[in-house]
Amino acid sequence: MDETRIQDRGGAGTVPVEALHEAPPPHPASIRGGVRQAIPHDSGPKHVTGAARYTDDEPELPGTLQVYIAMAQRAHARLVSLDLQPVRAAPDVASVLAAADIPGVNDYSPVFGDDPIFAEDEVHFVGQPLFAVAAETVEAARAAALLARVEYEDLPAAIDFDAAVAMADAAGRDLLDPHEMRLGDAAGELARATHRVEGRVEVGGQDHFYLEGQIAYAVPGEDGDVLVRCSTQHPSEVQHNVAKALGRPDNAVTVEVRRMGGGFGGKESQPALFAAVAALVAVKTGRPAKCRLDRDDDMEMTGKRHEVRIDYHLGFDADGRIRAADFEQLVRCGYSSDLSGAIADRAMFHADNAYVLPAARIHSRRLKTHTASNTAFRGFGGPQGIVGIERAMDRAAFALRLDPLDLRKRNFYPAGAAKLTPYHMPVTDSIIAALVDDLEAWSEYRARRAAVRAFNDTSPVLKKGLALTPVKFGISFTTTHLNQAGALVHVYKDGSVHLNHGGTEMGQGLFTKVAQVVAEEFQIDVESVKITTTTTGKVPNTSATAASSGSDLNGMAAQAAARTIRERLIAFACERYGVAAGDVEFLPNRVRIGRTEKRFRDLVGEAYLARVSLSSTGFYATPGIVYDRESASGTPFYYFAYGAACCEVVIDTLTGENRVLRADLLHDVGTSLNPAIDRGQIEGGFIQGLGWLTTEELWWDEAGRLRTHAPSTYKIPTAGDRPDTLRIRLWEKGENRAPTIHRSKAVGEPPFMLAIAAFSALTDAVVAAGEGRAFPDLDAPATPERILRAVEAVRTSG
Ligand code: MTE
Ligand code: MOS
Repeated sequence: MDETRIQDRGGAGTVPVEALHEAPPPHPASIRGGVRQAIPHDSGPKHVTGAARYTDDEPELPGTLQVYIAMAQRAHARLVSLDLQPVRAAPDVASVLAAADIPGVNDYSPVFGDDPIFAEDEVHFVGQPLFAVAAETVEAARAAALLARVEYEDLPAAIDFDAAVAMADAAGRDLLDPHEMRLGDAAGELARATHRVEGRVEVGGQDHFYLEGQIAYAVPGEDGDVLVRCSTQHPSEVQHNVAKALGRPDNAVTVEVRRMGGGFGGKESQPALFAAVAALVAVKTGRPAKCRLDRDDDMEMTGKRHEVRIDYHLGFDADGRIRAADFEQLVRCGYSSDLSGAIADRAMFHADNAYVLPAARIHSRRLKTHTASNTAFRGFGGPQGIVGIERAMDRAAFALRLDPLDLRKRNFYPAGAAKLTPYHMPVTDSIIAALVDDLEAWSEYRARRAAVRAFNDTSPVLKKGLALTPVKFGISFTTTHLNQAGALVHVYKDGSVHLNHGGTEMGQGLFTKVAQVVAEEFQIDVESVKITTTTTGKVPNTSATAASSGSDLNGMAAQAAARTIRERLIAFACERYGVAAGDVEFLPNRVRIGRTEKRFRDLVGEAYLARVSLSSTGFYATPGIVYDRESASGTPFYYFAYGAACCEVVIDTLTGENRVLRADLLHDVGTSLNPAIDRGQIEGGFIQGLGWLTTEELWWDEAGRLRTHAPSTYKIPTAGDRPDTLRIRLWEKGENRAPTIHRSKAVGEPPFMLAIAAFSALTDAVVAAGEGRAFPDLDAPATPERILRAVEAVRTSG
């Protein structure tokens, strides 16, 4: 007799294996972990117990070298000489690399070829990589790097907006060409408008502050090949840049990432630098090499969110309907192009936010500054664009003596009317009016408006503010060709599934969602689907996991792969059992074939013996995405995600200190793939947005040195900054009219912009501090210093 005994699910003791074959356990009504189920993030327990492995947790191979990157100490200078002899001679140093030691191309840029791995003739920001030292320990590498003799000849540097504009105007050109969107006759309509408001707002940058810093570990292989494990949202781009630096084809390089400890856009283009440096050392020395930055170096060396200065003009008719808008956006790009073109475009694409602009002109200049090259950050320019119009709406409501919510509601994109955006795309899926109505009721906006007024009437020092603001965010990469994804699914002969796709996991729950999609397709419990490390060796030519489209793209690709295998299983069952395809049905963990049922794993086992292929790739490309730069028109988005937030804040008018007392967030995720993960994204996005708009301030000195390069001086939100009352709801009426994966909507970035309600509420509190006499100038972040200054200004204004 077979001694093998396994635990019966029903808990009734043990039964022989063959008995299970004959009598499957009672059928559950549905699988565990299919789509729409609020299952936990697959790594949740591992994140909190420390069992989740990040790049730095993988055991180091014997002989591993530690790499330190030495940084330039000038904002803009000619590199007169760089003497590395003393560095090479220092104890425990194995190798020193500078620009001349790169066998391939000295560039790690994503698009434009203007990001040198090591500076050559000129340096363009304090923190720019000059050379790398590989040593037995990172301490030895750092100590050796200090021995370099560097001679600079200083050149004029532009650090802030005014200097950047002056430098660009003098040179007669910006870092990247300006872009303009036009709808109708904005200048004429503005001139004819009954009411006009104008103003300027500056929106600060933001450091990504991922908990896991930049890191790459390179292992040399045969024939000069290299394997790089690193923390990246974009393995294919890292692969390509490493190969380019080595002067090798892409197939010589494999890049792997199991997970990141946060990316937030900071690991799209930048990881290529650290991967290239580690790979160069590994290939040159034949030893594994690790390049891991500490926090201060990471903050000084890597790019951040773009600061934007926006000059706005809005014209209204007598009933508060917008007639025309004009936005001039100055975008501070840092020293190189990086992704600034697409980011500045997205700021323009979101200059309308949720409002119909019957006539509009949006103009954008992309300026060079001698600071780290600014890069992707959650929202990708969208948040800056939206702050511009929300600020203008607050100013207009003040001028028209309307409740800001009433003014906003008069101007929403209507449902079904297909009004054009400033880039001539009809908005056919607007649900913002209905969503805002629901939030207005749920948050008790009107009653609380009265309560805030009553509080302010009797409180001389503390003043409260309230605001409710909408978000409309376009989903897709605005660069058409990036909207593609691939997946690879294997079903092993025991019925267990191996899932791989080009998406990367940075905490957002993508891997869990895609596993749910595959579980749903096969109708098997999600635990049978193994989530695996992203690697360029399995799925090639992938796009960054970015633009919130990770689950839209990879979910579809994985579904396609699973479907191919499912179709093969159906064809096999038809042939073997002489039934029609319609008689084969995938039920939870089993398959009905005519009148009999089998476990999924048993059908798979039979298909294997019959030599049916149980492995497939899958592919997806989003249809219909076009944007023509010449005419500044097209359909750059597949659909829009919508949400709204209501925030109540209090400020201390003696110190400028402030807090969010309550926030109500209502967000549309279509039909959620996983409501638990979506709620987490909404909460995390909102809090990160709150940090951007209230406490996270980047500050450079005149020499271009970033003086806020550690948590001691750069304040991200802490658990204590979470509003005591934070209510989050997925909009029950949400649906995605576009045929996305199970009709879900992307959720990664849109909720970030819900935090703009807090910025508006702070403005409202400052207005109250001045007894409604003046509308304050207030830039973001609204730090206590800025709020205090704004309070003083409104109190002293006529
Ligand atoms: N959530 C966590 N926990 N960590 C992150 O790094 N990045 C955000 C968002 N949510 C991020 C996150 C950004 S910038 C994007 S574009 C999306 O996740 C990317 O993942 P998705 O496309 O799978 O939503
Ligand atoms: Mo997100 S900024 O698109 O990585």
